[in-house]
Amino acid sequence: MQHTDINAVCAIEQQVQFHPWTATQFADSVERYQSTVVEQDGKILGFCIMQKVLDEANLLLMAIDPKYQGQGLGTTMLNDAITRLGSACVQIFLEVRESNLSAIALYEKVGFHQIDLRKNYYPAPNHQKEHAVIMVNMLNEDAFQFGQ
Ligand SMILES: CC(C)(COP(=O)(O)OP(=O)(O)OC[C@H]1O[C@@H](n2cnc3c(N)ncnc32)[C@H](O)[C@@H]1OP(=O)(O)O)[C@@H](O)C(=O)NCCC(=O)NCCS
Repeated sequence: MQHTDINAVCAIEQQVQFHPWTATQFADSVERYQSTVVEQDGKILGFCIMQKVLDEANLLLMAIDPKYQGQGLGTTMLNDAITRLGSACVQIFLEVRESNLSAIALYEKVGFHQIDLRKNYYPAPNHQKEHAVIMVNMLNEDAFQFGQ
């Protein structure tokens, strides 16, 4: 992602999130995080933001333009972002709204599984709260095997 992509990224974000990130947050993420976009014919169709911390990463945010969802772009973009993290990254964590079944299905498809449930974590419409599903993708299982 480059600074010139931020308007297009914000336009996608505003269509898909209840509490969208701001342009300032995206500008910050260009500097601080591994921020990937997927584009076709010069048009930004999606983005993925990973925060690397030592040998781990957090998947902070990803989205595909609603007009282009369901075509495999999310899977391809996420797999590319995971590859770009490099072999030194042994696990990736994320949080996702419990109701976001399409995202959870995508995450499971690329190797994440649930490890926890954070109750009443997200704001929801009508002053309600929603649980967060905590997931991990163990990229290098060997790193977690202990000798006898
Ligand atoms: C989640 C999201 C990124 C998926 O992107 P996508 O390009 O539509 O995903 P893909 O086409 O690669 O589909 C991957 C898998 O996700 C699941 N999936 C996608 N759309 C789905 C839907 N409408 N209902 C149920 N499962 C769905 C399926 O398991 C699918 O695999 P399959 O095609 O083999 O069945 C996209 O729906 C999105 O941007 N949602 C809004 C933002 C969001 O929720 N981001 C994640 C939390 S930050």
